[in-house]
Amino acid sequence: MKITVVGTGYVGLVTGTCFAETGLTVTCIDIDKEKIARLQKGIIPIYEPRLDELVHQNMAKGRLFFSTSLADHLDCDAVFIAVGTPPGEDGSADVSHVLKVASETGKYMTHPLLVVVKSTVPVGTTMKVKQVIREELDRRKVNIRFYIGSNPEFLKEGSAVDDFMKPDRIIVGVEEEEATRIFEKLYKPFLLNGHPFLVMDIASCEMTKYAANAMLASRISFMNEIANLCDRVGADISQVRKGIGSDPRIGPRFIYAGPGYGGSCFPKDVKALIRLAEEVDYSMEILKAVDRVNEKQKKLLLGKIQFHFGHQLKGKRFAVWGLSYKPHTDDMRE
Ligand SMILES: NC(=O)c1ccc[n+]([C@@H]2O[C@H](COP(=O)([O-])OP(=O)(O)OC[C@H]3O[C@@H](n4cnc5c(N)ncnc54)[C@H](O)[C@@H]3O)[C@@H](O)[C@H]2O)c1
Repeated sequence: MKITVVGTGYVGLVTGTCFAETGLTVTCIDIDKEKIARLQKGIIPIYEPRLDELVHQNMAKGRLFFSTSLADHLDCDAVFIAVGTPPGEDGSADVSHVLKVASETGKYMTHPLLVVVKSTVPVGTTMKVKQVIREELDRRKVNIRFYIGSNPEFLKEGSAVDDFMKPDRIIVGVEEEEATRIFEKLYKPFLLNGHPFLVMDIASCEMTKYAANAMLASRISFMNEIANLCDRVGADISQVRKGIGSDPRIGPRFIYAGPGYGGSCFPKDVKALIRLAEEVDYSMEILKAVDRVNEKQKKLLLGKIQFHFGHQLKGKRFAVWGLSYKPHTDDMRE
């Protein structure tokens, strides 16, 4: 099968490369001409363990290609939209890049295909993608069959290739049975290996991605509040963490206190979910607190440094060890 992945960033490049590794023929598209020119020469723009090796292997096997032209690569079974959805000024997700890809798809597609939204998008965006494609086809006065699907990505930067190749779960949102059949073919090697494959409606699928990130961010802010209280009452957060983490209902993961959550997803996704709720007159009280606690937590370290040095910071030199938000990634976006 042949797919086209639009947006060759952390998600798009990993998705395209890993699908090529499973045997699909993949073209990765990006509007960034320099990025594509370098990829065509085998220069990888980001760091992810094993990505370099897999890109080179799959290019050499003639299964992985790079281009700036989506119009020239719509002769495929599926288009995956993996472009960025950055926060707008009010915190809502800016889906304009996603809709631009939808519009281009509608303008240039020539035969039936599945259009998949892999970017993290607010509920309702995949249906907007469908509407935009339909409008472009109507403008061209052609009636080409297409299906839409939602397939959020759960990979973690720093272990993206491994996460994609051995997913905890693959979740797809569909309207029609035909779309499920195409997803099953695309993910066949994963299904054969027994990775959980969940099929649901599109709105629930879009929401699942935000709910997962919001839940993880909440755990971090919760632990940071407990840590701050520990400091004040003479308890040790590391011991408390071990104590609560051994309860199977809580578990040991994602309960580390620290300088707050960062990276390119949690901060923007928490804010986007708060905004989405406001659009339907609902106030996400817990998530607003999660966001506030995180903002406060970022400044806590400075206070600890000032306290340690008796507020005498003038002339002191500090080394910062590690600039990305976690190990094994070069992502310094937030
Ligand atoms: N980074 C992660 O860990 C992660 C994990 C899961 C989901 N996501 C989601 O996946 C999406 C992509 O995230 P990312 O981190 O890969 O972003 P990114 O910024 O690394 O990559 C996005 C790419 O899309 C390209 N692009 C923008 N508009 C385009 C267009 N019209 N046509 C072609 N290319 C275009 C950009 O040039 C860029 O290279 C976001 O919605 C994000 O929330 C990210």
